[in-house]
Amino acid sequence: MFHNIPDSMLKRMKEMESQDVIDRTDGTPITKRLRQIPPETGKFLALLCASAPKGNVVEIGTSGGYSGMWLSLACRIRGDQLTTFEILPNKIELATQTFRTAGIEDAINLIRGDARQLLDQYHQIAFCFLDAEKDIYTDCYEKVIPNLVPGGLLAADNVLSHQDDLASFVEHAEADPRVDALTVPIGKGVLLCRKI
Ligand SMILES: C[S@@+](CC[C@H](N)C(=O)[O-])C[C@H]1O[C@@H](n2cnc3c(N)ncnc32)[C@H](O)[C@@H]1O
Repeated sequence: MFHNIPDSMLKRMKEMESQDVIDRTDGTPITKRLRQIPPETGKFLALLCASAPKGNVVEIGTSGGYSGMWLSLACRIRGDQLTTFEILPNKIELATQTFRTAGIEDAINLIRGDARQLLDQYHQIAFCFLDAEKDIYTDCYEKVIPNLVPGGLLAADNVLSHQDDLASFVEHAEADPRVDALTVPIGKGVLLCRKI
């Protein structure tokens, strides 16, 4: 998976990693920033996704498509499409460019709109990456968990970088008898939940 990333995707990944560093330091407004995961989180998610049971692969919060590229590597092995939700038009445009440039547009189902209103249509979820605004994590979690297949995984980013904002969400998941949950200290902190 990591040994044969296509050159076009690798190039786009490197460009976006450089741009993300610039965005975080030059005062770019939050709606324009890439706000993407670091590469080690991308690898971690791809490994988890490739190992998840049979079912659909979903991402909430596409931004420019960086994490989507990592997940697409796992989807290629699984023989699945990635369904990814994004609400902001400028991000949708950027992600469309990313997926085209990386040569994976046919493997991605980019859904435009508020994931909270659209998630109900997605069932038999094997893997979900949750990476949107922190105040919608619990709503999204509650829409995904009932539709996760047994053994299916939900990974939520930023639980250490936004510890205070996400404290009640993490408590909610840790106390949820439908899942086993653990915070993994990789990147910005990933809460990993496995459906029982
Ligand atoms: C942290 S960024 C995602 C970064 C991306 N996962 C990556 O690593 O490349 C969060 C994204 O979620 C999007 N978003 C926020 N609320 C949303 C919602 N209700 N539905 C869909 N997308 C949403 C934002 O517009 C933003 O682009």
